[in-house]
Amino acid sequence: MSLKIVVSGKGGVGKTTITALLSLIFSDLGYQVVALDSDSVPNLALSLGLPPDKASKIVPLARNDSLIERKTGVRPGEGWGVLFSLNPSVEDILEKYSIEVRPRLRLVVVGSVDSGKSGCLCPALALARAFLLYVLSKVSGIVIVDSEAGAEVFGRGLAEKFDVNLCVAEPTLRSLLIARKLIELARDLHIRNNILVLNKVTNEKQALDLARSIIEDSATEVHVVHYDEKLLRVEQDKSRLPIPERDSIAYRDVSRIAQALLRYLG
Ligand SMILES: Nc1ncnc2c1ncn2[C@@H]1O[C@H](COP(=O)(O)OP(=O)(O)OP(=O)(O)O)[C@@H](O)[C@H]1O
Ligand SMILES: [Mg+2]
Repeated sequence: MSLKIVVSGKGGVGKTTITALLSLIFSDLGYQVVALDSDSVPNLALSLGLPPDKASKIVPLARNDSLIERKTGVRPGEGWGVLFSLNPSVEDILEKYSIEVRPRLRLVVVGSVDSGKSGCLCPALALARAFLLYVLSKVSGIVIVDSEAGAEVFGRGLAEKFDVNLCVAEPTLRSLLIARKLIELARDLHIRNNILVLNKVTNEKQALDLARSIIEDSATEVHVVHYDEKLLRVEQDKSRLPIPERDSIAYRDVSRIAQALLRYLG
């Protein structure tokens, strides 16, 4: 039983918020969940409710030099040529480097897997990609990947492992045009199921009309998450981010998306 979801979308639209809520909701429903943060500035841990002092101590896999050296034989920054292992063994990483957020919910902070950003196929990138590939191919349960914008995890060899591309957009022209591109890209890379999430919605009809005028293909299902002021209050709490309550607007709306996603559980 498994379900692999990539959360994509323009910067700031709510990818991390929705990834966190989905992870919490699926674990509340009794599923085993692995949440992966592949942002170069990771912040999923905070959105999952980990205290800031604990979250700030997490070292992303892609920046864990001693781990990278152990797994690839090369320390980042050293003259490595082409001699590092391109198939580092990664089976034990999930167990050793995941953080148990709560029962049934584990987080791994992977860091960026974007070769454009790091500029090379360096050992760090090789390790991060090998780990992602391993989790997407071999781990059962629900895996959710919060990515920088989405496009980087759609790279070679990874994209086709996802069952669903959950593309988040604000109900604005710019955000929806990017969503359309990401959905087209996902289709080209054989991610068959695409779901558009309109987030921070205040006027549902207007938002849906705009979305449908831009993303016309009816194969893309559209869901709405309303603007939830409580999420802002949550952000202002310095000690930790309390998780949105079960009766909050965001939790309720994202629960509906979780139910829709469960149809793709294979
Ligand atoms: N439904 C919502 N209602 C109100 N505020 C929201 C909602 N969803 C997200 N936000 C707020 O929008 C901001 C951006 O959210 P988030 O960090 O999840 O976006 P992101 O797409 O992950 O951003 P980035 O591209 O920087 O990683 C946060 O302040 C978050 O609290
Ligand atoms: Mg984010």
